Amino acid sequence: MAASSPPPRVESLSNPVQQLVINGEQVPENYIHRNTDDGPICASFPVTEIPIIDLGLLTSSSPTGEPELEKLRSALSSWGCFQAINHGMASSFLDKVRAVTKEFFALPMEEKQKYSRTLEDIEGYGNDTVVTEHQTLDWTDRLYLLVRPEDQRKLKLWPENPDTFRDTLNEYTEKLGQLTEIVLKAMAKSLSLDDSCFLDHCREGALMYTRFNLYPVCPRPDVILGLKPHADGSTITFLLQDKEVEGLQVLKDDQWVGVPIIPQALLINLGDQSELASNGIFKSLVHRVVTNSERERISVATFLLPHPDMEIEPANGLVNEQRPRLYKKVKNYVSLYFHNYQRGKRPIVHSKFK
Ligand code: SIN
Ligand code: FE2
Repeated sequence: MAASSPPPRVESLSNPVQQLVINGEQVPENYIHRNTDDGPICASFPVTEIPIIDLGLLTSSSPTGEPELEKLRSALSSWGCFQAINHGMASSFLDKVRAVTKEFFALPMEEKQKYSRTLEDIEGYGNDTVVTEHQTLDWTDRLYLLVRPEDQRKLKLWPENPDTFRDTLNEYTEKLGQLTEIVLKAMAKSLSLDDSCFLDHCREGALMYTRFNLYPVCPRPDVILGLKPHADGSTITFLLQDKEVEGLQVLKDDQWVGVPIIPQALLINLGDQSELASNGIFKSLVHRVVTNSERERISVATFLLPHPDMEIEPANGLVNEQRPRLYKKVKNYVSLYFHNYQRGKRPIVHSKFK
């Protein structure tokens, strides 16, 4: 090979973070953030009230629905997220989802590794694919599963232990499917658009992935992140936070602020595909996760992605002389998204991080 050829690309999977912690190993260099362009890492940034939306009011045809729709529009244009309450899931059910997550991660390593992901697949148990030597890794282990369409589920990667895991995830998916429709319809209505504008993103063949996250106790929260700053590549994301341990921070007016825990709420945030479809009126939330030196944290994130063949572009009704089109049409945005994400870049939006 000529001396000037680039070295072959070597991809590998890093070991579970939990393994490092259990073995008491020294933190590998590639977890340390040396560059603080994204602002200092600090777990104690102020925790700020995030808009709270009552989903029951969004669907009501009575006059009380109108102000809630306006609250939704304002939350999504200024924050890109909201805490959803009155979403139809009992607190005891949310606790069950948290419990199966904790039970799974508490299993012995050999048991979890029955569900390990491979380099060719994002689904399964494991963590980041290392694609470049300059990549800073996230202090997190995950179980990543496609939950919709149902006939594409890889059940061999769905834990049988705890024995309630599969049924719980199935029921959770069902419920999130119903909420997706409610939220996407309300988003369009709040902009006086036709229902289909966002609802089309969950048409037949749309994908839903659920990612169970564990952030193990971390010896260096000052230089290590559970998740580096990013915006999601989804249309919307549902996030069930740990009931006791905070860690999620969002970028608001160029400042990192902590997201408070509301145990019975689901945090709903917009991803890049909604920002694009709304021609930039709605914001795709930039967020990160800080680590904790005393307590581990879990969370459960569910991403809605349109069918990979579907073209997404700014809605006609939102492009005009005052508001020129800001984004190009995209197809299978998420593959572009992952390629960039692993290299620390964001595809569509001029942003805080390149
Ligand atoms: C995520 O951004 O996917 C997860 C955020 C969290 O764990 O709070
Ligand atoms: Fe995220």
